[in-house]
Amino acid sequence: MARRRRIYEGKAKVLFEGPEPGTLVQYFKDDASAFNNKKKGVITGKGVLNNRISEYLMLRLKEVGIPTHFVRRLNMREQLVHEVEIIPIEVVVRNIAAGSITQRFRLKEGEPLPRSIVEFYFKADDLDDPLVAEEHIAAFGWASPQELDEMMHLSLRANDFLSGLFLAVGIRLIDFKLEFGRWWNQDEMRLVVADEISPDNCRLWDIATNEIMDKDRFRRDLGSVEEAYQEVARRLGILPEGGGPGDLPGPSAVQ
Ligand code: TMP
Repeated sequence: MARRRRIYEGKAKVLFEGPEPGTLVQYFKDDASAFNNKKKGVITGKGVLNNRISEYLMLRLKEVGIPTHFVRRLNMREQLVHEVEIIPIEVVVRNIAAGSITQRFRLKEGEPLPRSIVEFYFKADDLDDPLVAEEHIAAFGWASPQELDEMMHLSLRANDFLSGLFLAVGIRLIDFKLEFGRWWNQDEMRLVVADEISPDNCRLWDIATNEIMDKDRFRRDLGSVEEAYQEVARRLGILPEGGGPGDLPGPSAVQ
């Protein structure tokens, strides 16, 4: 079999040339990294779980009219996506104080924020992805003011929708990160959600116990990382009660 052309390799994923023009294959690795690659490890099975979880969440977003790059899942570790021009900005939406915002503004972890807060970070590993203002984005031309408005609007809509979706399965969406890309379809350009949405780029806490169910388990050496990701997938109805990936029974409501 001919080897596929590797387009890009990131910390947790590899992008290969897709089977049709304008498509890519996104391969999910088990590799984990934190603190801008200063901490590295492997979470066995993470790639399979994130492929499934991201597929599920991207499909749900599409149903409520939030466009994404996702086309279809190909196998356990791969999904077909539209090739997009990635905007070099990470959009973080926060509902509850956790992570970097607690240090920046002397907040207590777990403190509800007065309202959902949208932040922008410039994607640049050598600079540790600095927090930037809208002014920087517009002045340096990373995104137009219209694109920025749309990214903010789509991120807040995704936050409302995903908060409800997770709440229904007993999980609080503390914060999450989205990336956006420009998808060219003929002569028309659309902004779409790209990359992945998974416990690697969300903070997810159990409603009843505040137990951490996301990558903070890896960042803080809390153990049972794969089990936490598996529990997120199980509650979303992506894993059967028994464990391994199987048919989709649908989400299980929590009282
Ligand atoms: P932070 O509290 O470290 O700024 O992270 C906020 C959210 O964004 C959290 O859910 C993790 C996610 N995130 C990423 O997915 N990638 C990153 O590079 C960073 C810094 C955060």
